Amino acid sequence: MKKLWGGRFTKTAAQWVDDFGASIHFDQQLVEEDIEGSIAHVTMLGECGILPKEDVETIKKGLTKLLEKAKNGELSFSVAYEDIHLNIEKMLIDEIGPVGGKLHTGRSRNDQVATDMHLYLRKRVIEIIELIRQLQRVLVEKAERHVETLIPGYTHLQRAQPISFAHHLMAYVWMFERDRERFTESLKRINKSPLGAGALAGTTFPIDRHLTAKLLSFDSIYENSLDAVSDRDFIIEFLSHSSMLMMHLSRFCEELILWSSQEFQFIEIDDTFATGSSIMPQKKNPDMAELIRGKTGRVYGHLIALLTVMKGLPLAYNKDMQEDKEGMFDTVQTVIGSLKIFAGMIETMTVRVDMMEKATKQDFSNATELADYLAKKGVPFREAHEIVGKLVLTCLERGIFLMDLPLDVYRQASPLFEEDIYEALDPYNAVNRRTSAGGTGFTEVKKAIEKVKQMLEA
Ligand code: ARG
Repeated sequence: MKKLWGGRFTKTAAQWVDDFGASIHFDQQLVEEDIEGSIAHVTMLGECGILPKEDVETIKKGLTKLLEKAKNGELSFSVAYEDIHLNIEKMLIDEIGPVGGKLHTGRSRNDQVATDMHLYLRKRVIEIIELIRQLQRVLVEKAERHVETLIPGYTHLQRAQPISFAHHLMAYVWMFERDRERFTESLKRINKSPLGAGALAGTTFPIDRHLTAKLLSFDSIYENSLDAVSDRDFIIEFLSHSSMLMMHLSRFCEELILWSSQEFQFIEIDDTFATGSSIMPQKKNPDMAELIRGKTGRVYGHLIALLTVMKGLPLAYNKDMQEDKEGMFDTVQTVIGSLKIFAGMIETMTVRVDMMEKATKQDFSNATELADYLAKKGVPFREAHEIVGKLVLTCLERGIFLMDLPLDVYRQASPLFEEDIYEALDPYNAVNRRTSAGGTGFTEVKKAIEKVKQMLEA
């Protein structure tokens, strides 16, 4: 089959060589963006007097028809035409005749593909920002119901100090807030038009780049034609922000997996987000959480892959850059899927308040309370720490907890201990007293929830 660029060729490549070079298998996902970009381009060619109005009308009609067919899934693509751009151009020529060949005036596939990628990513990033917001809403709603639910807080995965379960959930809300900020901020670089940069050097036709930018709702244009066609920073940035988001989701998944284990029993994942074992009838596995944790790896992989693709490329376009697409498409799909599944899992999980609270009572995570108690009475904290450490040792020897130790033992350790230590040791009080800004005290947690709710409404 004759190539659209076949003029200077006397031989054709073998089918398997064509297959290797083609991107149509995956860049057909850009079909709508590609046609929309072309409609803007040809409109501009008309406005600038580069093509006669009747040709522009014919081409636009043809493209609009193709766009409709694309939306209905009625187009069939061919490897013979390599990529989405040439496939559409060929279909246009088939549809309206040789006048379709005028579409590519003053343009190159290099600025065309970059334009498609910008348009595609803009759409997807906006979708992702909204999904993050929805996840935050789900988390805040859960948090509101669990302000006074106690859970052990951990460091080194050792019980450290009791906290409000809502406080734990809200920590993730803030992580996702930073993700949302990063994606939002990146939009200003995504929403820039490379169209009109041509192959690399601009064009001799009197085009109007600002007009195509406006028609495609871009905020601005790339200032330099070489940069316009060879920049993939915006995709790398997307992969980087996605990696960070997946890392956050993955950490949370790890906690859900731990919490739903027999060892913790803090939550139960709903049947609708769990699976069974083909051999062990008793099992309920947190597969979805594990999968999100696992898929994080592929997103990191895409980031490293594209950074590596780009690192040795001279200006401007190089075919290596065709490798930017699959990782980006896969990341979009992975991130969108993970966010939806994760929100569903949180929304439907059962929080086992009894088990969480039981855990806060059966450990030494209230030891800091005792040290603080002495410190507040003037004992240097370091000494208080030592005294309480010894009391913990006594408890361990006797197989009891601090709450069970008689007052006379306390008073032997320090005469400053009084009856009210038992109140201080109560995990509820321990949490409630942590009213420093951003702490787990109930009043602080409620404040944080209110703040986030306002933020999410804005
Ligand atoms: N399929 C190509 C890509 O994805 C389109 C740009 C091709 N440009 C070129 N000069 N061969 O990068």
